[in-house]
Amino acid sequence: MFDASKLTNLLPLKMRSQTDAYLEALGVFLEIRDPRVLASLAPSGVRGLLLKRGKQGIPTQIKCSHTAYFDWTYPNDHPEMRELYTRAKAGQWDGATYLPWKTDVDPENPNTLILPQSFLGVERLEDYNVRLDDKEKHALTNSVATWMLSQFLHGEQGALFAAAQVTEAVQFFDGKLYGATQVIDEGRHIEVFHRYLDEKLNKLYQVNDNLFVIIDALISDSRWDMKFLGMQIMVEGLALGAFGTLYKLTKEPLLKVLLKMVIQDEARHVHYGVLALRDHINKELDESERREREDWAFEVSLLMRNRFMLYEVYEEWFEGRMPRDKWREFVTNSPGMREFRQVMFSRLVPNLRAIGLMTPRILPHYERVGLMQYFGGDAADKLSGEQLISDLDRAA
Ligand SMILES: [Fe+2]
Ligand SMILES: [Fe+2]
Repeated sequence: MFDASKLTNLLPLKMRSQTDAYLEALGVFLEIRDPRVLASLAPSGVRGLLLKRGKQGIPTQIKCSHTAYFDWTYPNDHPEMRELYTRAKAGQWDGATYLPWKTDVDPENPNTLILPQSFLGVERLEDYNVRLDDKEKHALTNSVATWMLSQFLHGEQGALFAAAQVTEAVQFFDGKLYGATQVIDEGRHIEVFHRYLDEKLNKLYQVNDNLFVIIDALISDSRWDMKFLGMQIMVEGLALGAFGTLYKLTKEPLLKVLLKMVIQDEARHVHYGVLALRDHINKELDESERREREDWAFEVSLLMRNRFMLYEVYEEWFEGRMPRDKWREFVTNSPGMREFRQVMFSRLVPNLRAIGLMTPRILPHYERVGLMQYFGGDAADKLSGEQLISDLDRAA
């Protein structure tokens, strides 16, 4: 990561925090080595990190330019996707009636904590000269949980639109039918996360700038396979990591069953991404196009690993009290964020391998950033939603 500290240490705290944000945004671009990847991510980076388009309090409009692909012969062209479509129809559930919405969610009840204090390791704040009483520690942990759920909701909006676009743009007819089920899945995920935040927690954080960048990049990219790679593999992988971590840790019964149901849907979504991209990348792309995707996936992996730093929580709680770069250090080393990175990459890396985006050319880069340990795991086409849940239950 770009080290801004040497330049900014002498500034007053508030100004130092602003400068750190700009330099960190610049650091995203300096980390990207492949010029084609830079060209495709930079406009989204400017819109998200500098112009903060997700935070202007007005609807965001993003121009789309993909091509809708019609086929009037309706071929049965992909039996595995057809099978997934059949399973997806059978796996539908109604977010309004299936979940126990009558549950009294009390974030103050120590027996049903949404997130334990050990997630952040709040006591470590004293190392940064920040002292909180017990009530504040509890409230801060709840802010983090609400932030996570808010980002899940915003990610689901991106997923809904991406699923709809991909349904239009993909060439497999069986993939289009499957895609229709994903559109309703994502609609349901928005319904349940929004209802939980609105009815039970009464709060919604704005979209995180880095999440906005990834969503903006894949929604505006005209190439269907980039949308797939961005949404079905990267963002869905991120979501599975985050949902899985919260599912394991939460003691709140309504949220637990909500996440269990969503995780089972998401497992199908990633499975679909692996099926579509494995064929496309190995059979349709030339080597230069494949390499561009390989580099893009690596850069976005770094973006996801390094940049979900809960800044919206920092601004609410600590801006002016603690330097922003110290907050980043605190969050990076928190037990919950370590766990999240572990669950996310243990799912993501095997999927990248399965679709042909982890050839020996890129492996040293993954090795350098410590992600090769996940290389041998099962990819999504080998993992059912039930298996994912039982893995998480066993590890809890
Ligand atoms: Fe979803
Ligand atoms: Fe999804």
